[in-house]
Amino acid sequence: MSFERMWRDLAPVGRDARSGGYFRQPWTTPETELRAWFAEECAARGLELETDGLGNQVAWWRSGEGRAVLTGSHLDSVLDGGAYDGPLGVASALAAVDELRERGVTPARPLGIGVFVEEEGSRFGRACLGSRLAVGATTWEEARELRDRDGVALGDVADGADLDWRLAERVGCFVELHVEQGRDLVDRNAAIGVASGIWPHGRYRFDVTGQANHAGTTRMEDREDPMLTFAMTALAANKQARLAGQRATFGRLDVAPNGTNAVPSRVTAWLDARCDTAEALEELVGEITRLGTERAGRDGTALTVTAESVSGTVDFDPDLARRLAADHEGGDWPIIPTAAGHDAGILSAAGIPTAMIFVRNPTGVSHSPEEHAETADCLAGVHALADSLERLLA
Ligand code: GLV
Ligand code: MN
Ligand code: MN
Repeated sequence: MSFERMWRDLAPVGRDARSGGYFRQPWTTPETELRAWFAEECAARGLELETDGLGNQVAWWRSGEGRAVLTGSHLDSVLDGGAYDGPLGVASALAAVDELRERGVTPARPLGIGVFVEEEGSRFGRACLGSRLAVGATTWEEARELRDRDGVALGDVADGADLDWRLAERVGCFVELHVEQGRDLVDRNAAIGVASGIWPHGRYRFDVTGQANHAGTTRMEDREDPMLTFAMTALAANKQARLAGQRATFGRLDVAPNGTNAVPSRVTAWLDARCDTAEALEELVGEITRLGTERAGRDGTALTVTAESVSGTVDFDPDLARRLAADHEGGDWPIIPTAAGHDAGILSAAGIPTAMIFVRNPTGVSHSPEEHAETADCLAGVHALADSLERLLA
């Protein structure tokens, strides 16, 4: 019940009336409102809230002793994203605390609920920025210089001066519940799954420069058109990824000066690439870069490629995954890989034993207004998380 009430409260925050999707970019009004909502929910439960200058939050149920069990997720969204990616893990964590208390559980060690900012990297371009800073995988000196699309620096909207979470010392394990972002659980007819690992992935900025010129008077053979170089590179990325059985996407483009009657002077495009191994990722990005550079040579343009956010392979703790997946009414939960990035991957790479619980998504669609999970499956997720936490807190 508490889950459904919270889900109703969250529904209007940052929702676009036309698309039905969410714009919950970090340090904007909707996202700030969500963080205030989380603080209120924690206060209502008597959880003790810690916040850093960035906006990362961890709420503690102080109980027992020793290293804590941490759960939680994120509240920010991609541009025009779904309702579930992130907030499902936060609302489920709060509802799981309610359920544990109803069951009369007294944790033998502390339980924390974490909310990490800018998980999507939708504003400053670095995936899982909040958790990276919280574990020291990125330094504030570097991060403060990151700029959003309007040129605003991270250091101008957030104060990361007190970022010493020492999570790796304080936390014994992390469990993130998340909506599934593919069709694996649908195909297996299972409401709940556990993650085995995350594919390595990265974001690469492709800057193509050419010569701005008149769209009517410049003969076709005289052009140095960066749009052509980009267009061929996008086709090559798709083809190379399909040939290799991997993933490559150009989903963001910036054209200068972006006029209809001029050959552009510059095209900047962002490649998102994901592969089943780090070697395959390097090879795929290398091949796309090679083909783009070759085409630039023919177009009279110049291409430079800059890695903006790279995340290595994540293998979640297999014992922890098996421990959470085993012995449930109706059978063991399936253990499945994912090509989506998560704060769980960052905490795992920082040496914290980590697991993820996935909730079935009937559309298989994510990072889109069509992302969905049925209420019954969300409630199954709350029970699954409560069961998992109870095992870990014993
Ligand atoms: C985040 O959800 C990502 O996979 O990019
Ligand atoms: Mn997410
Ligand atoms: Mn996401």
